[in-house]
Amino acid sequence: MYSSIIEKLKNAKKIVFVTGAGISQESGIPTFRGKDGLWRNYDAMKLATIEAFYENPNLVWEWYNERRNNIFSSEPNLGHKAIVEMEKFFEVIVLTQNIDGLHQRAGSSQVLELHGSIVKIKCTVCNYREVIYTKFSKIPPLCPCGNILRPDVVWFGEALPQNVWKKAIIHSMDCNVMIIAGTSLVVSPANTLPIYAKQNNATLIEINPDETIMTDDMDLSIRSTSSVALPKLVSVLNKNLGGRGS
Ligand code: APR
Repeated sequence: MYSSIIEKLKNAKKIVFVTGAGISQESGIPTFRGKDGLWRNYDAMKLATIEAFYENPNLVWEWYNERRNNIFSSEPNLGHKAIVEMEKFFEVIVLTQNIDGLHQRAGSSQVLELHGSIVKIKCTVCNYREVIYTKFSKIPPLCPCGNILRPDVVWFGEALPQNVWKKAIIHSMDCNVMIIAGTSLVVSPANTLPIYAKQNNATLIEINPDETIMTDDMDLSIRSTSSVALPKLVSVLNKNLGGRGS
């Protein structure tokens, strides 16, 4: 399996990762749709929409405070770190649906957060934005202008930040290999990125213990967790391309 991947990787210059909640699962952050997924225990439509926020900002902020706590006590895992190591061999761009910041904390140098970030907040009225790394004692937090602040994340029904989405498409259309790790690919528009990559003859590699709705479109699927598969991939790369690493 891994030797066939080397064949696909050895002439690659640029690799784009599309990652989702699964890559952070082994850091102790629950996925959304897995067996213990967040959407099993919470109603997404009551917590991750702008309507839900205006209806009950306290409830939404309680949930985000809980997630902030969980994320701030989590560490990048071997999967995040292996992606950093691949920068020795290729230009590596990480397009993540995750808001936990673990790719950046692991050391990835080019990360685009498609769905925003758990540490970023913005005003619901004025242009005020802030980055906060602590839990909020008073919820909902207020903006200096007096209006309530919201998490600067993309909720269901909201558009991705245009500049981020444009860059994500450009990278997807410009890579030799796209590795899709830890995502069910059920949420658009992130799930269209493999289509852009394929249109430009990129090799699609899926890393996921389960099948996804796009498994049949993949050139290769590794049925494994990311913290096992990605370090294995790096060790095979070191053996085969070791001299190429900077
Ligand atoms: N390693 C790799 N993949 C894993 C692991 C693991 N250890 N554990 C679970 N997975 C896989 C699951 O099989 C599933 O396919 O990760 C995927 C997680 O899918 P989701 O829970 O749907 O998460 P994600 O794809 O990131 O969701 C996309 O939906 O709710 C919104 O905005 C939210 O960004 C999120 C988006």
